[in-house]
Amino acid sequence: MAETAQYLSTRHVLGIKDLNVDDIQLILNTADTFKDVINRPIKKVPSLRDITIANIFFENSTRTRLSFELAEKRLSADTINFAASSSSVSKGETLIDTVNNILAMKVDMIVMRHPYPGAGVFLSKYVKAQIVNAGDGAHEHPTQALLDAFSIRERYGELEGRKVAIIGDILHSRVALSNILCLQKMGAEVMVCGPTTLIPKHIASLGVHVEHNLMKALRWCDVANMLRIQLERQDINYFPSLREYSLLYGLNKELLDSLDKQITIMHPGPINRGVEITSDVADSDHSIILDQVENGVAVRMAVLYLLANKRG
Ligand code: CP
Repeated sequence: MAETAQYLSTRHVLGIKDLNVDDIQLILNTADTFKDVINRPIKKVPSLRDITIANIFFENSTRTRLSFELAEKRLSADTINFAASSSSVSKGETLIDTVNNILAMKVDMIVMRHPYPGAGVFLSKYVKAQIVNAGDGAHEHPTQALLDAFSIRERYGELEGRKVAIIGDILHSRVALSNILCLQKMGAEVMVCGPTTLIPKHIASLGVHVEHNLMKALRWCDVANMLRIQLERQDINYFPSLREYSLLYGLNKELLDSLDKQITIMHPGPINRGVEITSDVADSDHSIILDQVENGVAVRMAVLYLLANKRG
């Protein structure tokens, strides 16, 4: 039997691109243990009581920010939170200066969300702390992909051979790229589905199936991961209207009921109810959307715990 790795191969978690299969397996297996912990009456372990973590968010977030903060508290780490909107960044301070000032307060790890792709990679070259990418522009969102993989594995027992369709605004999505890389590394098959204008031209070179017909994608997949239209990242109109998008790519109960099998519905959030997904689907037994949120805490606990083991 192959031995399971005990340590991550990387000092940071900047993207799924840098994680190998053993790393992903190790994170998912460790998250299994932490999921047990967060379901106990006492949801806390002392593992990171000597660690201080700064959560620095230059972009809005509900799930990721709270999930990291809770994961840190469940591991007994000390945490500080930084929101760019209320900081001295608005006075012209650089990212490196901002982070080095935070690190001067004896912070060990930085969890960062930033609107610019590659911001975490850039920072990791100039500061001493370990960095976790909590989403960098339309590039990567590694912990989202890990929690999605964990949730699929939890539902089906394994990822190998599963067919996952990622549906919606692929072009502006960091979740899509991280999911594609993570699922493929773990042996799943991936399809992307959406209007031509919202699918990057060269995405097929990643080895994914490309489909523009929602019904065909639903018939093909075991899991449909519905993505939100990221209007805040769109500088031009990619489709005539939200109503038209919803008619062609919105998932509703009628479509699900017309399939001859039961598929699992995922969404990274935030949901635009009535646009990419109707309420009766989002709140149905097919949906594991809130399981994803619960699993996010366990997966982030695993990431932080394993990174702490790589200190020094
Ligand atoms: N899924 C996700 O990244 O959600 P938030 O933007 O609320 O963190």
